[in-house]
Amino acid sequence: MDGTSARQLFSTVTDDDRLVISVEPFDVPEPAAGEVVVAMKAVPLNPSDLGLLLSPADLGTARSEVVQGSPALVADVARAMRRAVKGRVGQKLSVGNEGAGVVVAAGASASAQALMGRVVTLVGGQMMRTHRVMEAAHVVPLPEGADPVEGASLFVNPMTVQAFLETMEREGHSALVHTAAASNLGQMLARLCLKRGVPLVAIVRSEAQRTLLADMGVEHVIDSSVDGYMGRLIAAIAATGATLAFDAVSGGRLANDILVAMEQAQIKLGAPYSVYGTTTHKQVYIYGRLDPSPVTLTAGTGLYWGIGGWLVTPRLAELGRERTMEMRRYAVEERNGVFASHYTRTVSLEELLEPDVARAIDRKATGEKFLVDPSKGS
Ligand SMILES: NC(=O)c1ccc[n+]([C@@H]2O[C@H](COP(=O)([O-])OP(=O)(O)OC[C@H]3O[C@@H](n4cnc5c(N)ncnc54)[C@H](OP(=O)(O)O)[C@@H]3O)[C@@H](O)[C@H]2O)c1
Repeated sequence: MDGTSARQLFSTVTDDDRLVISVEPFDVPEPAAGEVVVAMKAVPLNPSDLGLLLSPADLGTARSEVVQGSPALVADVARAMRRAVKGRVGQKLSVGNEGAGVVVAAGASASAQALMGRVVTLVGGQMMRTHRVMEAAHVVPLPEGADPVEGASLFVNPMTVQAFLETMEREGHSALVHTAAASNLGQMLARLCLKRGVPLVAIVRSEAQRTLLADMGVEHVIDSSVDGYMGRLIAAIAATGATLAFDAVSGGRLANDILVAMEQAQIKLGAPYSVYGTTTHKQVYIYGRLDPSPVTLTAGTGLYWGIGGWLVTPRLAELGRERTMEMRRYAVEERNGVFASHYTRTVSLEELLEPDVARAIDRKATGEKFLVDPSKGS
């Protein structure tokens, strides 16, 4: 293959405590029989990508440099992060969990050949590059005429929200509480719950976020920044009977507030008094670390509850390949509906190296998702 303009992005922590993000040329390998080469057109920047890409850095120190002949963004590793990143020092790490593009070369197998010229959505890491070689069986084609942008974010968030509902059903719950609920993922969850008739209590932290979800039709939207928030949370949880929460914030006392509110809701619903608390199990799954501060627990939760971590990949493995592929097909079907994503800005690999762009991406603000088009500017 002609790899003359092929470029890939790496994130490296150096032994002198710098984070170096570089864009470097590479030769695209010939695909094996069952493989395809995808020219990447649309790669979203999700919070999970930022953990690898930018999180170690003190972006106040970000500057543009040329490192070993390649354009790079260089920043000091934040003091608080130095211990956490020791395991990756010196390793050039590829970034980008998911994305979409066009199949431009295919191996000899019939399944690979059938994908030639198709727009496909794919997952599996190393997406921040102009060309990604993948097993044909691991990419999902979009319908004819679809734009790659429609396929960019069809795995991480769509599969997570579908798997939330699987967890809810498998663990015997019938309603959900969700935090940071106006996020890209939160809006997908809201649309999925509305479609499936699953009662949802959405916790947000501003009036603008409350309006956004209320306008979508979500009945119970609670703004944690206003006085009287706990009373409203208890009432909403009592109205829905929710005993399960997915928490993306984690730091501070939000998980605690939810458990206390669930306990109070159970009492409201008629649970008998006990000094040990009610006998209804209440569960909070922490699935994000938007606030990295410690999780705080107080009295008032009773003693029958759990707080655990929740990660989509092992949850999908539990569900099995067949169910996972069914969920992926549903994500494609609903790409412009339940799982639609909106992007504020599309940048090239090189624009990602600009300090101001990196700082804007790192803000992870509501409605400010960035898309990378690796084919731009080559
Ligand atoms: N565990 C898993 O398997 C898994 C899978 C997929 C996604 N995730 C997690 O899901 C979360 C959402 O992802 P996304 O792509 O939807 O993100 P996103 O669209 O970038 O949105 C981030 C949202 O979080 C809010 N936020 C940021 N910091 C916050 C804080 N300290 N307290 C409360 N809200 C805060 C932002 O609101 P403001 O505008 O108010 O800042 C914004 O609404 C991320 O934490 C991601 O890591 C986890």
